[in-house]
Amino acid sequence: MRRFPLAAAAAAFLLVLLPLATAATTSGGKSPPTSTTAAKAKAPAPAPAPPNVTALMSKGGCKAFASLVTKSPDALSSFQSAVGGGVTAFCPTDDAVRAFMPSYKNLSDDGKASLLLFHAVPVYYTLRGLKSSNGPMNTLATDGSSRNYNFTVQNVGDQVSIRTEASDAVAKVRSTVYDKDPVAIYAVDTVLEPVELFEPVEAPAPAPAPVADAPKASKRGARHRPKHVADAPGPAVDDDAADGDQRKNAKKNKAPGGGQSTRWLAAITAAVAVAAAVLV
Ligand SMILES: *[C@@H]1O[C@H](CO)[C@@H](O)[C@H](O)[C@H]1NC(C)=O
Ligand SMILES: *[C@@H]1O[C@H](CO)[C@@H](O)[C@H](O)[C@H]1NC(C)=O
Ligand SMILES: *[C@@H]1O[C@H](CO)[C@@H](O)[C@H](O)[C@H]1NC(C)=O
Repeated sequence: MRRFPLAAAAAAFLLVLLPLATAATTSGGKSPPTSTTAAKAKAPAPAPAPPNVTALMSKGGCKAFASLVTKSPDALSSFQSAVGGGVTAFCPTDDAVRAFMPSYKNLSDDGKASLLLFHAVPVYYTLRGLKSSNGPMNTLATDGSSRNYNFTVQNVGDQVSIRTEASDAVAKVRSTVYDKDPVAIYAVDTVLEPVELFEPVEAPAPAPAPVADAPKASKRGARHRPKHVADAPGPAVDDDAADGDQRKNAKKNKAPGGGQSTRWLAAITAAVAVAAAVLV
């Protein structure tokens, strides 16, 4: 008969623990839902509409590029969904796009989308941040390791330039079209050519070689159906962007209450073990 109070105590202990554990699990480790009305009152006002990237580009001297983005559903949706997490776009000027149109028209729809998404990185960079970010960067066209679609930022003096392996010419940042955290748009004077779509300049280019290789390159792009999921900045970006303000919108450290739930489960298990030991 002496066991009964102990068992009752263990049961009471569990009864107290369980609701707490449930609360911790459902609230994901955030503050417990003491009062829903108070929580509602404190909820922030709905976020302002995200900036319209294509409209901003059009206004800033990149009307032709914005128009190409608008006509590519894959590119447009990827640009739009990237805006919230931070994005820096490099839009070629209208002259640059005009000169590039014959090559652009040769690309498949996937190739077009990839080329357009190649002109933005999924990180917000101020001009100052760019100037301290020499090195390779992943773009919105990057998708895992099979679709590198990276370019190289190189700074000479005060001039920010972008280089790819597919072109001798560097694209120079000419002006700031828009800069308001988390979105920056800079105008560049040349269309960026990803080496995934255009022959690298290093390759010796006797007449037959490019003709034989060019269709292969676009077929390769078409076979891998691009998802155009904006990757988090890859290791390349991490290495170079560790300092400065460019990392400030990497709000990726929202650790959900997983750890806490696990701890609660461990506590319950321990309590049950104690109760069992007492009852036996
Ligand atoms: C963005 O602006 C363009 C005009 O430049 C307009 O056609 C488009 O509907 C706008 N998109 C959104 C999502 O408001
Ligand atoms: C477009 O593709 C055709 C056939 O592959 C090729 O002959 C032509 O040179 C290409 N034009 C441009 C501008 O790349
Ligand atoms: C960039 O892309 C090229 C070509 O796909 C690849 O060879 C290279 O490893 C990539 N560099 C980085 C730093 O990801």
